[in-house]
Amino acid sequence: MSKFIIEGGARLSGEIEVKGAKNAALKIIPAALLSEEKITIKNLPNIEDINRSLELLEDLGAEVRRGRETCEIEIKRLAKDRLEPQFANKLRASIMFVGPMLARFGEARFPHPGGCVIGAGARPIDLFLEGFERLGAEIREKDGFYEVKAKRLKGCEYFFTTVSVTGTECLMMTAVLAEGVTVLKNCAMEPEIEALAEYLNGQGARIKGAGSPTITIEGVERIHAGTYEIIPDRIETGTFAIMAAATRSEIKITKCDPDHIQSLLAIFSKQGIRYEKGKDWLMIKPAKTIKAYNIKTHEYPGFPTDLQSPYTVLMTQAQGASLIHETIYDRRLLFADMLMQMGADIIMCDPHRIVVNGPTPLYGRRLTSPDLRAGIAMIIAALVAQGQTEVDNIYQIDRGYENIDGRLRALGADIRRIGTLNL
Ligand code: EPZ
Repeated sequence: MSKFIIEGGARLSGEIEVKGAKNAALKIIPAALLSEEKITIKNLPNIEDINRSLELLEDLGAEVRRGRETCEIEIKRLAKDRLEPQFANKLRASIMFVGPMLARFGEARFPHPGGCVIGAGARPIDLFLEGFERLGAEIREKDGFYEVKAKRLKGCEYFFTTVSVTGTECLMMTAVLAEGVTVLKNCAMEPEIEALAEYLNGQGARIKGAGSPTITIEGVERIHAGTYEIIPDRIETGTFAIMAAATRSEIKITKCDPDHIQSLLAIFSKQGIRYEKGKDWLMIKPAKTIKAYNIKTHEYPGFPTDLQSPYTVLMTQAQGASLIHETIYDRRLLFADMLMQMGADIIMCDPHRIVVNGPTPLYGRRLTSPDLRAGIAMIIAALVAQGQTEVDNIYQIDRGYENIDGRLRALGADIRRIGTLNL
């Protein structure tokens, strides 16, 4: 199993370019199933989750032509109506393929999605199944597979009892080809959802309200070819900003959208972390002292759960006690005990709340990354720590961060990859 060896303590400096958003690309790729015409995607990140997603699409019969950061997709017809477990089990977002298959081809069969370990047990998909049923699909479960079928989907009104990002995106794209109007309520408002709606409308869909709690989709017969430039990855942007602050480094983050991480930047201002920003860049300045500050993760535009792990590392270097309240996922605080092994002073209050007392020195350790966001947080902790840290299971990190060791070495980080990058 490949791993990273990191020597901590160095100041970093220079520029780092943000890649296209993983969590935007993972929806645009399945959305290609909605159209029989060519889809062109630009600014595609070269990461494991995207490779798995394109493999799944090819297995369904898509023609995929891949460039450096671009991809052309054509799906004239389906080679099969079933998501094979060897693909679906590696990708939590595989559920995103079901809606478009149902909408355009009338049926889909799939195993319960695998992928991320966070979230209680196997991640729930009740909102997706309820939504498909409300749109007129029949759902059966047979031999560990779900079967969803519908001659023609019919518009409906659906209220999300839990705000769900992929739930919102999946039902929004599924309703594009339904007969009549669909109104989705209590929707997630992430920038990736607005970007998906903009892209689909560019192909002839009729979606209004994306980015607000209520989205209205007027069904159309078909949608056409489309070209989509993937928006910058706001979680990469926030992660690199936190890494700069934690290592007291001056780093310029480019090809990003600082407006997508206002929740983090507003907190930085309260903590004495100075920054300058432009339309597509963000410069973090080293701060002598960083004030502790409590956070509570929340759906967008609140503090993103995907920045919670890196932020927890930052709080080990802040003056005072900070309460970290993870409201979205179970088990996303599990990595705190690895931080404690490195010397952090953390009290586990309950499965959703920890108190971090800082500042404390961190010391290099052997660690295993449980999920991609905890994995990158460990790299930040290793860069802050004195001594050598070894991070195993780095497939989890390669899932979401392209060539992360190469990009950090360019900033002066002492990080080596042992084992191949099987992209
Ligand atoms: C998306 O996951 C992102 N993934 C996650 O990023 C992100 O952490 C999450 O949104 C929250 O912002 C992608 O976009 C591919 P949810 P998603 O549905 O949509 C419950 C990363 O690190 N729920 O918004 O799967 C669920 O258990 C990943 O890049 C149901 O109960 O998250 C959770 O508690 C991790 N039933 C809550 O909703 C359902 O049918 C929010 O989850 C679906 C979800």
